[in-house]
Amino acid sequence: MRLLITGAGGFVGGALLRNAPEEWEIHACTRGSPLWRRHKLTWHCFDLSKEAILEETLESIHPHAIIHAAAAADIDWCEANPREAEQINVEVTRRIASFCKKYGTRLIFLSTDNVFNGVRGMYPETDIPDPVNHYGRTKVMAENVVMENVPSFVVARVALVIGFPLLGIGRSSMSRALAMFKQGKSLGVPTNEVRTPIDVVTLSKALLELAAHSFCGPLHLSGNDRLVRYDMMRRLAERLGFSPDVVYPNDPTGLPGRANRPLDVSLNNSLAQSLLSTRMLGFDDALATIVEAAAQ
Ligand SMILES: NC(=O)c1ccc[n+]([C@@H]2O[C@H](COP(=O)([O-])OP(=O)(O)OC[C@H]3O[C@@H](n4cnc5c(N)ncnc54)[C@H](OP(=O)(O)O)[C@@H]3O)[C@@H](O)[C@H]2O)c1
Repeated sequence: MRLLITGAGGFVGGALLRNAPEEWEIHACTRGSPLWRRHKLTWHCFDLSKEAILEETLESIHPHAIIHAAAAADIDWCEANPREAEQINVEVTRRIASFCKKYGTRLIFLSTDNVFNGVRGMYPETDIPDPVNHYGRTKVMAENVVMENVPSFVVARVALVIGFPLLGIGRSSMSRALAMFKQGKSLGVPTNEVRTPIDVVTLSKALLELAAHSFCGPLHLSGNDRLVRYDMMRRLAERLGFSPDVVYPNDPTGLPGRANRPLDVSLNNSLAQSLLSTRMLGFDDALATIVEAAAQ
């Protein structure tokens, strides 16, 4: 397997690199610098929005599969910078999809639970996306590009990812929370947002399994437990040895600069459960997994 990973310097990208089978040839794309060395790992340091370099890189590697994890994934930033968000989330995906169409390369595209409007929850793959923020809209546009062009694809709709970065810094809400707890600060968390969180280790293993799988279509990757964010963070604080009361209820709706969030974007992961040998976990097992991974 010759696998190319985009967004290798990110939170999910780092876990993908750490968990990729040693016998696979891995090509890691990042705007930053190489974060880690291992046998059969090559870094390609450039900005994916540079069209010519992207094309040259893809042509020179000719991967069997691509896990496209790079994205502008900050919901509020996407709302404030809609054109730039489309550039990275949609246009870069379009160029990668066009390469995959030309050569029959398998593409695992990382989408999000934020493609749904959050009114009903427990969405299966057959439900129709209806995003409430611009980040979600860019992901729906990119999903369509992938589904319409790539012969062998997975649109992996990923739930809220929990864990600590295994390489680099990444964008992890748990790392930010832990830093606050360590400084003796409390954290305000919404009580009305429902998610089915997945830990970054299980997610990376599922994505790597999918790279070598024959399944084609949208697939929901989420944990088995449906939780309110507030309860989630209190349980995390407790698991890390702090009082759950370092987390207090907070309703940030309407704060300047805060994009709309869908309320309940819990995902139904039955298809992933039946398809993959990677087991989806409940929240307690997910917490144990991320604590163990961070200690290694
Ligand atoms: N974290 C979650 O809770 C979550 C939930 C659902 C879906 N997702 C999706 O999962 C994927 C990975 O997210 P993540 O949590 O790992 O986010 P992240 O830590 O922000 O990583 C995303 C990476 O994308 C690359 N990137 C960002 N902006 C770019 C730009 N303008 N040009 C080129 N590359 C750019 C960067 O990689 P380099 O630093 O290597 O250049 C960045 O580190 C994304 O597609 C995201 O939408 C994440």
